[in-house]
Amino acid sequence: MPIHVEAKEGQVADIVLLPGNPERAKYMAEKFLDDPQLYTDYRKMYGYTGTFNGVEVSIQTTGMGVPSISIVLEELKMLGAKTLIRVGTCGALSNDLEEADVIIAQSTATIGTTINQISPDITLAPPADFELIKNLYESAVELEMPAHVGQIATSDYFYGKSSDYGEDLKRLAELGVLAVEMETAALYNIAAKYGLRAATVLTVSDHVFKKTRADKSKIKEGVDRMTEMVLDTVTK
Ligand code: HPA
Repeated sequence: MPIHVEAKEGQVADIVLLPGNPERAKYMAEKFLDDPQLYTDYRKMYGYTGTFNGVEVSIQTTGMGVPSISIVLEELKMLGAKTLIRVGTCGALSNDLEEADVIIAQSTATIGTTINQISPDITLAPPADFELIKNLYESAVELEMPAHVGQIATSDYFYGKSSDYGEDLKRLAELGVLAVEMETAALYNIAAKYGLRAATVLTVSDHVFKKTRADKSKIKEGVDRMTEMVLDTVTK
């Protein structure tokens, strides 16, 4: 048994959705899955397996940031997971984005060094799985959800300590980076390491430069719509 994701062999599905927040994982499992079974509550990093459209799916909490999600992803790999989809929130860098819009991350820039553990001398640029993001985008269009596909950035630092951090993000915005979050670099790099299928789908919760945050009910609505779209797409 892995040290943190306390599941036994066979308890984690091939397809795993990955919210950061444990309360959200519990809510998603109870709202969307049929017969959800809790397989781990260690450190409150809840993980559930149930079915959606008759297909087995797990929903596993990742916690916040690259170090936390990296532990969870390595252990999900040990437990046999094959398709990994992060469902989370992000701060918008692009002015074209509205609160609760959906972003499908084609690739991610990394602001931080933890991920260098994987390939210390090489800057990998691992993309999302093409078929996954193609299907996710088509579903979003069909459901008339405002969806944006492009590059995001994964940062180790939520608040930023100095004005340099703000300058970095401004530079990234000018280079066409849509939004910032804190986990996808780990997901895409670890998926590349093991040949797993990965994608990240995000709801805009914040506007970084406008310094605004959507209210809780709007974030919840956006996350719900996105989660249902993702579950439907990956179980078709
Ligand atoms: N920055 C980093 N991660 C985030 C943000 C943000 O503004 N919003 C949601 N996740």
